[in-house]
Amino acid sequence: MQELIVEIPERSYPIIVVDGLLANAQALRARLRACIQGNQVAIVTNDVVGPLYLEQLMAALDGLQVDVMHMRDGEAAKNLATYEQVMDFLLAARHNRSTCLIALGGGVVGDLCGFVAATFQRGVDFIQIPTTLLAQVDSSVGGKTAVNHPQGKNMIGAFYQPVAVFADPATLSTLPPREYAAGLAEVVKYGVIEDPDLFVFLENHCDALLAKDGEVLSQVIVRCCAIKAAVVSADERESGRRAILNFGHTFGHAIEKLCGYGHWLHGEAVAIGMVMAARLSQQTAGLTAESVDRLINLLSKLGLPTELDSRSLEIITVDAMIDAMGLDKKVLDGRLRFVVASEFGNVAVRDDIDEATVRVVVDQCY
Ligand SMILES: NC(=O)c1ccc[n+]([C@@H]2O[C@H](COP(=O)([O-])OP(=O)(O)OC[C@H]3O[C@@H](n4cnc5c(N)ncnc54)[C@H](O)[C@@H]3O)[C@@H](O)[C@H]2O)c1
Ligand SMILES: [Zn+2]
Repeated sequence: MQELIVEIPERSYPIIVVDGLLANAQALRARLRACIQGNQVAIVTNDVVGPLYLEQLMAALDGLQVDVMHMRDGEAAKNLATYEQVMDFLLAARHNRSTCLIALGGGVVGDLCGFVAATFQRGVDFIQIPTTLLAQVDSSVGGKTAVNHPQGKNMIGAFYQPVAVFADPATLSTLPPREYAAGLAEVVKYGVIEDPDLFVFLENHCDALLAKDGEVLSQVIVRCCAIKAAVVSADERESGRRAILNFGHTFGHAIEKLCGYGHWLHGEAVAIGMVMAARLSQQTAGLTAESVDRLINLLSKLGLPTELDSRSLEIITVDAMIDAMGLDKKVLDGRLRFVVASEFGNVAVRDDIDEATVRVVVDQCY
């Protein structure tokens, strides 16, 4: 078992990583009871994760009033309509201010359930049980909760911290391979931005990671959560340092947007974006060619794309990339920021990189 206490100004809470926790009703019961104050629990899950893990969770909650809401699967359900459905469900089942919400699922369920928890009766306790690798290393840490609006992702939300996070790497056994690899992209990102030792560990444990080895995953998940928690608590409301978590994301978001959401998973687009960011780092911050190659090798060993595929190449021109990143407009006031690395573990946020350099880097992916 690995445990990490996240210290943030208003509250601290544990992130507990135990391989096989959900299958161990006794251990899970003890853990959950330690952080559930009242006798009401509402579980929010979806129609993919519920059938896989709900029974195990329910077995640990006997004796309490437990109500379960299944939301539709997918990003499209992360909206105000689902938010309202969860609110209706809580009120219909007479949940009160001392209820505890449990999010059982990936980042979509966690973000939506967290926003419900932040606002139901002005805020109730909330436990995250993340079941995707992305949720275990990224979305369940940092306190951002949100739903999407037709005009933009995560446009409606709040900063709201859970009372605890329980991550069980064994749940990843049922995760589709692409979703798993997409989570690994964020793991690699943590190595690049903060932790060269983690990067080497990943290089040395590719086979174990691909085999979803519980022990190796537990170590990696806790390390990633510790890095994210440290970055976020240094900068809880995203002014400066939190931006380093966006390594590869300026390019990645543009790729996601241009190819249409659904072609690349977020983590896949970020993997390609990180290769672009590494090349930009080579041009502007002295990252060595060897480091760029190591990054490309690690990502490909982990089953991630490192360059645009033929469909993307049909859609994405260098001009379109520049446009999607907002460089054409934002370069005027010098505001577009890129995270660049001078070596693994040493990154800076720069707003002085000119369009010509970015063009060269994007062009290298053709
Ligand atoms: N709050 C934050 O700081 C933050 C950070 C990053 C991403 N996010 C958000 O997270 C969301 C993406 O999260 P995600 O990648 O986990 O996507 P997701 O929640 O949609 O999960 C991906 C897919 O895997 C399924 N799934 C989940 N766990 C499973 C399991 N154990 N076995 C089999 N299938 C399983 C889901 O039902 C879904 O179909 C986005 O909405 C994004 O905005 C939030
Ligand atoms: Zn990301």
